[in-house]
Amino acid sequence: MNARWLDTELEGADITPERRSKFKKKKLLGRRRLDGLTAEDPERIADDTIRRLIDTGHITEIVAELKSGKEATAYVARGPRGSVLVKLYREMEARSFKNDAVYREGNVILDARAERAIQGRTRKGLEMLQADWVCAEYAHLWTLWQAGLNVPEPLVGPNVKVCAATVPAVLMRLIGTEDEVAPRLSEARLTPIEAQSAWKQAVHGLADMLRLGYAHGDYSTYNLLWWENTVIIIDFPQLTTRQNPNFQQLLGRDAQSLATSFRKHGIQTDGDATLREVQRLARGKGPEPRIVLP
Ligand SMILES: Nc1ncnc2c1ncn2[C@@H]1O[C@H](COP(=O)(O)OP(=O)(O)OP(=O)(O)O)[C@@H](O)[C@H]1O
Ligand SMILES: [Mg+2]
Repeated sequence: MNARWLDTELEGADITPERRSKFKKKKLLGRRRLDGLTAEDPERIADDTIRRLIDTGHITEIVAELKSGKEATAYVARGPRGSVLVKLYREMEARSFKNDAVYREGNVILDARAERAIQGRTRKGLEMLQADWVCAEYAHLWTLWQAGLNVPEPLVGPNVKVCAATVPAVLMRLIGTEDEVAPRLSEARLTPIEAQSAWKQAVHGLADMLRLGYAHGDYSTYNLLWWENTVIIIDFPQLTTRQNPNFQQLLGRDAQSLATSFRKHGIQTDGDATLREVQRLARGKGPEPRIVLP
C-alpha cells in the first residue's frame, strides 16, 4: 500500500464507500508524511539514511510512516525478506538522550578517548553515542530473540560491524501486516479474557528478561504490541543489566508502570505485587531458545 499504488487503487470506479474511506485514510498517512521518501529514482530520496538502506539492499522501499516519537520515527518498509519496521533515530543534535546516564551507568567503555568524547557531547561523541545506542538495540533484540522471547526479529546482524552499517536506523520484522500494523496494548481494545491473557504474558515477559539479567527500563503498554493474541515487547535501547547500580530501581519501576498502564484494561494490581510475581516467575523455566542459523 505505498502512495503510488494507492493512487491507482483510488482511481478505480468499483470501490465501495467503506473501502474508499479505508483507502483515503491510508492515502493520507502516505501523502502527509512520505514526501521525498518514496521517489521512484533512489537518487531523489530526500533522507540520506533511507537512500543508503535502499542502495545497500536492506530495504527496497518505504511504504508508510507509522509514528514519529521523541527520539525516532518508525516507518513501514519492504525488504528482501518481507515487511520491515525501520526505526530511524533523529539527528544526534536533536536528540535529548533523555536520562541516558541512568541507563548507561555500569556500562564499560574501554577506550578513554571515546569516553571523553561521549562525556563531553562533542559532535564525534554524539555520533559514537548514536552508533552505540543503535548497536545496543540490535544486540538486545538478538539476545532476547535467540532466548525465545516475543520480540520482533532483528533483520540485521548479529555481527556488530554489520549492525553498524544501518546506523542511525534499526531494522526489524514488522509485527502485523502493511495494511494492519499491530496496535500497542495502550490503544488495543481487549475483552476481559484477552486482557487477562495479555497481562499474564506481559508479566511473564518481564520475568523472562529478569531471568536473563535485564530490566527493560520503559516497560508499559506503550512498549507492548498486541498481535494474534500475543504480546510482543518492543523498544530496547534503554535495557539495563544487573551491572547497573540502578538495576533494582529500574526493575521496580518497570513493574510499577506495567501495573499502572494495565488498569485501563481492568487489571487491578499494584507495582509491589507485580514485582513479587515477576521475581517468582523468573526463578522458573524460560521459553525455548530459538535456533538461529548463520
Ligand atoms: N516491530 C514493530 N512492528 C510494528 N510496529 C512497531 C514495531 N516496532 C515499533 N513499532 C511501532 O513504532 C512505535 C515506535 O517504536 P518504539 O517504541 O521502539 O520507539 P520510540 O522512539 O520509543 O517511540 P515512542 O517515543 O513513541 O515510544 C511503537 O510505539 C509501535 O507503535
Ligand atoms: Mg516506545
